[in-house]
Amino acid sequence: MSILYKTLLRPAVFLQDSEKAHSRVLRILSSLSKNKFSLSMVGALYSSPELPVNLFDIDFPNPIGVAAGMDKNGEAVPSWQSIGYGFCEIGGVTLHEQPGNPKPRMFRASKENALINRMGFNNMGAKALKKQLQFWKDRGLWPDSPLGINLGKSKVTPLQDAHLDYSSSINILWNHADFFVINVSSPNTPGLRDLQESKNLDSIINECCETNKRISAEKGISQKPLLVKIAPELGDGFLEDIIKIVEKYELSGIVATNTTVHRPKIKHKSSEKIYREEGGLSGAPLRDKSTEMIRKIFRLTNGRIPIIGVGGILTADDAWEKIKAGASLLQLYTGLVFEGPGIAKSIVKGLKKCIELEGFDSIEDAVGIEA
Ligand code: FNR
Repeated sequence: MSILYKTLLRPAVFLQDSEKAHSRVLRILSSLSKNKFSLSMVGALYSSPELPVNLFDIDFPNPIGVAAGMDKNGEAVPSWQSIGYGFCEIGGVTLHEQPGNPKPRMFRASKENALINRMGFNNMGAKALKKQLQFWKDRGLWPDSPLGINLGKSKVTPLQDAHLDYSSSINILWNHADFFVINVSSPNTPGLRDLQESKNLDSIINECCETNKRISAEKGISQKPLLVKIAPELGDGFLEDIIKIVEKYELSGIVATNTTVHRPKIKHKSSEKIYREEGGLSGAPLRDKSTEMIRKIFRLTNGRIPIIGVGGILTADDAWEKIKAGASLLQLYTGLVFEGPGIAKSIVKGLKKCIELEGFDSIEDAVGIEA
């Protein structure tokens, strides 16, 4: 299936501008999502074998999730499970609707298996996302697999009011998420990464936890797991401070990592021009950096804080490496662009083989064994 995608479909998709191709694919998935029969046909081709993981008291049918940014407005929610994913993280959503940065803002470095983007949180805003998610629920199309929501800060909101922006989105979307990811690491919103600094982050997390606590008490049900997503180039001091905050507020985990603003050495000269574009780099060149960040977090916390590993996963070996470095769940975005719709199934099958070959009973047993 992957060969078919790479030889026939991908060349046609790659003739188009990167963002346009992405929007077209999302439109196709969105219309498939509206029809149970189409979903089951797609499922027959692409759904993954079971490889269950239980984390945050939530059952994940397999550990491979759709990374944030892929389905910012929840347009294709029912389809992700059908093409093999064990969960999805939709968004980034901001409290206010916003257009994002001027186009073009998404670039393929095909020879490097990488993307560069400076989207700038283009999205319909939290209220419209709530409506879209309710649409799937009302039509009985809500997936069985868990759904997380990635939260960004609206550009119009000053940094000192960031805590209110994030917590208001949680307030609006609380009923519709299995977990929330507080994203303070996208490189494309001015100043956003400064929110990773201890004082700023403490105030954001405090407000989000208070909102979470209040709603859960009102409804008499458990709080939603809250996680924080970090950048791959965080220095050790910053990382230690973030871990302290995660522990202080008993957050459920860390998502590591977002895209990188660094440009590692290119493999092909033809990538030079693309690498000069501003924005966050994702895909193969990010893989090792993200894996090392996962390993660092696992070591610093003795594995106490669950990690969702993301960055440069294109194969089952990439995924296995991140699990052994300390990730309990994984996500991918760029791999789907380069490897096609069979990627989740192929990785889950590969992981099952790794577990069997190395004599483990489950994913959980392998987490962090090479940290
Ligand atoms: C992203 N990513 C991202 N992350 C996030 O927390 N909120 C977001 O809104 C987005 N948006 C976004 C758009 C585009 C076009 C890309 C390519 C990426 C980052 C993404 O979730 C992931 O962390 C990185 O892309 C690294 O994973 P991959 O792509 O190497 O698998």
